[in-house]
Amino acid sequence: MSFPRITPEEAAATINDGDTVAFSGFTPAGSPKVISQAIAARAQAEHRAGREFRIGVLTGASTGPSLDGALARADAVSFRTPYQSDRDMRESINSGRTRFFDMHLSMVAQNARYGFLGPVDVAVIEACDIDDQGNVVLTTGVGASPTWARLAKRVYIELNKHVPKELRGFHDIYEPGDPPNRKEIPLCAPDQRIGTETLHIDPAKIVGIVETDLDDETGTFRPCDEITTRIGENVASFLAGEMKAGRVPPEFLPIQSGVGETANAVLEALGAHPDIPPFKMYTEVIQDSVITQMQAGNITFASGSSLTLSPAMRKLVYEDLEGFRSKLLLRPQEITNHPEMVRRLGIISCNTAIEVDLWGNVNSTHVLGQKMMNGIGGSGDFTRNAYISMFICPSTQKGNKISTIVPQVSHADHSEHSVQVIATEWGVADLRAKSPGERARLVIERCAHPEFRPLLREHLAKGGFAHTPSRLTSAFSFHDSFSTSGDMHDAKLKD
Ligand code: COA
Repeated sequence: MSFPRITPEEAAATINDGDTVAFSGFTPAGSPKVISQAIAARAQAEHRAGREFRIGVLTGASTGPSLDGALARADAVSFRTPYQSDRDMRESINSGRTRFFDMHLSMVAQNARYGFLGPVDVAVIEACDIDDQGNVVLTTGVGASPTWARLAKRVYIELNKHVPKELRGFHDIYEPGDPPNRKEIPLCAPDQRIGTETLHIDPAKIVGIVETDLDDETGTFRPCDEITTRIGENVASFLAGEMKAGRVPPEFLPIQSGVGETANAVLEALGAHPDIPPFKMYTEVIQDSVITQMQAGNITFASGSSLTLSPAMRKLVYEDLEGFRSKLLLRPQEITNHPEMVRRLGIISCNTAIEVDLWGNVNSTHVLGQKMMNGIGGSGDFTRNAYISMFICPSTQKGNKISTIVPQVSHADHSEHSVQVIATEWGVADLRAKSPGERARLVIERCAHPEFRPLLREHLAKGGFAHTPSRLTSAFSFHDSFSTSGDMHDAKLKD
């Protein structure tokens, strides 16, 4: 059976107001790029004609500007889950035009299968190859594609010839069964394969193929600066110390690291540390620093759900696919982030916080308690189940006006029970086996910016003698102060 070639506009014309559309990919890697834009144009035309047109959007994680950006600018999204990082989509969510449901990325596919997200009308899947039986070679991101393709009533393929077909073999497609018949996931090492190279889609559901020739819409990373370099070095020397103390085995453990510049700095520092042996990654996003460290021989293997690389790094990988074939594996996010895997493999997790409080609670998602930034992503999947769970962040933001170490987080994503280690450019607070008072003193003296330490000490002193010596009346004094004067230094602690 050969599938009809259609235009993006023909695909968009079949999507109705109120439909739920699920998109492939994970980050801009593997996200569809043209049908989403055609849906946005259709929404604008419908709005001009005075008709309603808004859809529900399901993805693996964040996407590129042609998807979240285009749809948000067209005011075409009534509901969005799980993670986004597009400026226009964020604005649409924070202004109340788009209802956003934030959830752990490991749970997206199963929540859809359980019916918690409602019916999936359409799936749009980016592929670099397809045969007549509906066997598809995915591109640079897997995300929740296996589940989207299975649940959707209709499937469109964006066949992207920019991505080499030789990517076949880089994917390991596996979907767990559902309760009450779920079995263990038979994966015992980051480099083990348990599934198939291709994703099989019921050919009867494939309505058409849109051909494209477009690169992933990923940006470039800023190089590490003094602060991120110091954070990276602090994490590396802490983990080297854990090895020396015999708490991390001599062959080391698989690393999960978040995305962005600070995460890049951590991987660089781990690679450069003389006492840390070459290690494997079992992570969500494989970004530039993983490839750089692989080339340097410091990372031997990386399993993830996407290859989220800068254009230059992607070109380098595409030009040496044979060299990378035995070193990279792309899996569904349900497997990369699965609590069962994280705990079995003994993963050391390292994610970035927006703010951390004295007790070890972490806010990963909200600015000043109200505005959604991106979403929890996979940070909760890893943090709750890791062998050692770490959070990193600079001690201040916005020109030193914001302390990321606060008396009480303004929104809680990761509780003190899951967070074990905090690192900033000043040092590392190891919170394991510490009481709340001990944790607070460590977080203040090791991680807070020296300018904010007196205020934080004062807050702790006002808590008096209690199991958790928090002074509730001044718990949000830092946030209040920033809202009023634009500077947390002006915080007034109430008695
Ligand atoms: N108050 C106000 N703004 C803050 C802030 C705080 N406490 N902390 C960070 N910000 C702002 C920064 O100033 C910056 O703003 P800008 O875009 O205007 O410059 C922005 O948030 C991003 O911060 P940055 O320091 O550049 O870090 P980042 O790009 O690494 O992003 C997170 C940090 C927390 C937003 C990001 O890591 C995230 O979304 N995490 C949740 C998901 C996750 O952990 N995924 C990985 C799991 S596998």
